[in-house]
Amino acid sequence: MEKITIQDLPGVGAATAEKLESAGYHDMMSIAVATLGELCETAGVSEAVARKMINAARDSMKMGFETGADVMERRQKVMKISLGCKGFDEMMEGGFETGAITECFGEFGCGKTQIGHILAVQTLKTDPDAVAVYIDTENTFRPERIKQLAAGIDLDPEEALQRIMVAKAYNSDHQMLLAEKVDGLITEQGKNVRLVVVDSLTSHFRAEFIGRGTLAERQQKLNRHMHILSKLANSHNVCVYVTNQVMAKPDQFFGDPTTAIGGHVVGHASTFRIYLRKGKKGSRVAKLIDAPNLPDAETNFMVTESKLEDVN
Ligand code: GTP
Ligand code: MG
Repeated sequence: MEKITIQDLPGVGAATAEKLESAGYHDMMSIAVATLGELCETAGVSEAVARKMINAARDSMKMGFETGADVMERRQKVMKISLGCKGFDEMMEGGFETGAITECFGEFGCGKTQIGHILAVQTLKTDPDAVAVYIDTENTFRPERIKQLAAGIDLDPEEALQRIMVAKAYNSDHQMLLAEKVDGLITEQGKNVRLVVVDSLTSHFRAEFIGRGTLAERQQKLNRHMHILSKLANSHNVCVYVTNQVMAKPDQFFGDPTTAIGGHVVGHASTFRIYLRKGKKGSRVAKLIDAPNLPDAETNFMVTESKLEDVN
């Protein structure tokens, strides 16, 4: 079947296609999941035209039902990527899953980036043919750290670096584009991508959209980004790991006064959510707060020179 593009949609000419492209709509999925209002505004088209575009985009892709057997077959391909830390792995029943998005959120220094580095080397260890993709938005990817962690699990450090593809994202549009490019790495370049890290998922969005008036726009964009990542996870059996910061919740007097950035848009799109915080004596606490088939649980660990270590 010939691949249809945005320009092939009814009511979309070159100028409209360009407007859509520059607003971050690059593929059929982004149109298929867009809202009417969103399209009218960005493309400057009438509601009737927007509706036709969305319907055509939906028709162009398989968005319908599949059999339970199909789902079962996909589930059987799911791999668990160990964190090399007993308590953490037990909490996740083996590790972080492929075919899903796992989000870690928490304050600065709680270990989100370290977990990204550890997942990268563990992925390479779990699947000897795999490559890992690291989308770095805060310039915190450290090759030296990868070498240390690789050596800690008997992987050749130089080889490990060769098998990690890193891209720095300069702004949220760039970040979204990079996430979309991963599909091409797999389908066109034949790379066996098993892990995609987006560290941090929300920092650019947070910095670029300031003030109440821009919140809706930010959430729409984040939503599209999450859809792209979710599709990537699902259709190519990739483990997607995203990190997220927290903000103080001024109206909360009891309990933990922090809440994740991105709200429901990020929360609902993530399959597994883990809240990280600092514990006693330099330890860290990870709390699984959302998972489709695992009980809520908590574990204590410490980031050390070579790995994540259990703390009892
Ligand atoms: P932000 O990105 O600022 O929100 O923080 P983060 O959650 O990504 O924190 P990160 O993963 O960078 O964790 C930092 C913590 O990991 C530090 O406070 C150190 O305790 C620990 N850490 C980082 N690098 C090393 C290392 O090379 N050796 C050891 N032993 N610990 C490290
Ligand atoms: Mg970090």
